[in-house]
Amino acid sequence: MIRAVQRQVVFVGKFLRSPRQIGAITPSSPFLAREIVHLAQVRQSKTIVEFGPGTGAFTKEILAQMPRDARLLAVEADAGMALLLRKKFHRAIITAGSAQKIRRIMKAHQLEAADCIISGLPWASFEPQLQDDILEEALAVLKPGGKFASFGYIHALGMPGAKRFREQLHHIFGSVQMSKVIWKNVPPAMIYCCTKEK
Ligand SMILES: C[S@@+](CC[C@H](N)C(=O)[O-])C[C@H]1O[C@@H](n2cnc3c(N)ncnc32)[C@H](O)[C@@H]1O
Repeated sequence: MIRAVQRQVVFVGKFLRSPRQIGAITPSSPFLAREIVHLAQVRQSKTIVEFGPGTGAFTKEILAQMPRDARLLAVEADAGMALLLRKKFHRAIITAGSAQKIRRIMKAHQLEAADCIISGLPWASFEPQLQDDILEEALAVLKPGGKFASFGYIHALGMPGAKRFREQLHHIFGSVQMSKVIWKNVPPAMIYCCTKEK
């Protein structure tokens, strides 16, 4: 309980300092975490990449569902958050940096192509160029048939940045599926699960 309150305080503080980078006022719920990790097929994955782990809500669930011999590389832009995550999750490789550099980061860790990417990034608040740069890198590191899973808040799906992101997903991936609404998340959210063409 105290830990959860601490996490919330850290998160709100970060949001107030960098609203566009954080993009959410509260960490993701376990309900959203379970669904996104399930849809990304983490149980069948050997190399898993996470973008923008934040407080680690998805990281915890990925580690719980991934096979024993799988590897998780998480890339977090906020160095302070990356440090906290490193202390908390010893089984994951946590790097401070931008998802824009995922190709180079994976190479530095001798990781080959990813079976899946799970994103916690606030796409709707990103500039078009940043959306494109990160999506291009994501596509480049995914294996053919690999999964890219991300979420959006339903109240924000009509925002120009969110619409653009959705259009880009349809443009670059062979298949894009939208999940049911996760009403128990605050705020309610839905998941995009995309598959790279074989
Ligand atoms: C919505 S928050 C994380 C949500 C996460 N599921 C949670 O519950 O804490 C988005 C995170 O993405 C990170 N971020 C923003 N831009 C990034 C980038 N270009 N590369 C990597 N991380 C980024 C932010 O620092 C923030 O921690």
